[in-house]
Amino acid sequence: MPTVLITGAAKRVGKALTELFAARGWEVIIHYHTSERAARDLSLSLQKKYDSRHFPVVQADLSNPVQSVEMLLKQLPQPLAGLDALINNASVFDASTLAETDYDLWRRQMLVNFETPFMLMQAFYKMFGKGAVVNVLDTRIVNNDSSHAAYSLSKKALTQLTQMAALEWAPDVRVNGVAPGPVLPPPGRDSVYFEKVAADTPLKRVVGLDSLAESVWFLVANSAITGQVIYCDSGAHLNG
Ligand SMILES: NC(=O)c1ccc[n+]([C@@H]2O[C@H](COP(=O)([O-])OP(=O)(O)OC[C@H]3O[C@@H](n4cnc5c(N)ncnc54)[C@H](OP(=O)(O)O)[C@@H]3O)[C@@H](O)[C@H]2O)c1
Repeated sequence: MPTVLITGAAKRVGKALTELFAARGWEVIIHYHTSERAARDLSLSLQKKYDSRHFPVVQADLSNPVQSVEMLLKQLPQPLAGLDALINNASVFDASTLAETDYDLWRRQMLVNFETPFMLMQAFYKMFGKGAVVNVLDTRIVNNDSSHAAYSLSKKALTQLTQMAALEWAPDVRVNGVAPGPVLPPPGRDSVYFEKVAADTPLKRVVGLDSLAESVWFLVANSAITGQVIYCDSGAHLNG
């Protein structure tokens, strides 16, 4: 049975990814940080729907790259025949210009969004030696909007890492990225703000969770693609 580990899988985008991979016949290891109830509810609902498969739940704070990878590996179900895919989806999204960014904020963004995904990718490559990694990026990787400066820089770094790893780890592990545009408003932002962000995209629409999940699925399923970034962003990257 193919198995995927999805980080930040309990809610929002991560939940949509989990549901799609489950619907396509995969077992999903559901990682969460604080959303234990949501992770367990999701696991139970999938278990009921697909009763011959497993949907284990694992917990880790991804702000400590070395410890969190160790913790995650310890919690992987045993015996584990293998892991076929890793999706680095968990992230933090702090608003802060370059001038406002203090070192704590900088570190938090880099640790969760870039350094831990790197350590997880490396562990995946070394332990399992084959399969697919998808890093969830952001359409902001193509512009210099500094309203979320450290966040954007962490995703830009993850994009470069995606391409470097794709080359180093070929032909064994494929590494790709999906760069979403406006999917769901961040906590604390209302739908009016979000509709405006969507209206500014060439396609003038919010990115559906299904569209985003299908893009990630495509990159996992298509064995001829590595080092690619799909902009699933209603065309926002064209605005630069
Ligand atoms: N939403 C959008 O419109 C949008 C747009 C562009 C790009 N993206 C990208 O798409 C991905 C998913 O977006 P989203 O809006 O669904 O993300 P989100 O809700 O902001 O975060 C996803 C998950 O990340 C986990 N997380 C945060 N800090 C963590 C930590 N220290 N350790 C471990 N896990 C941690 C949280 O898990 P717990 O809940 O368990 O704490 C959270 O549920 C992200 O990579 C984001 O950058 C999203």
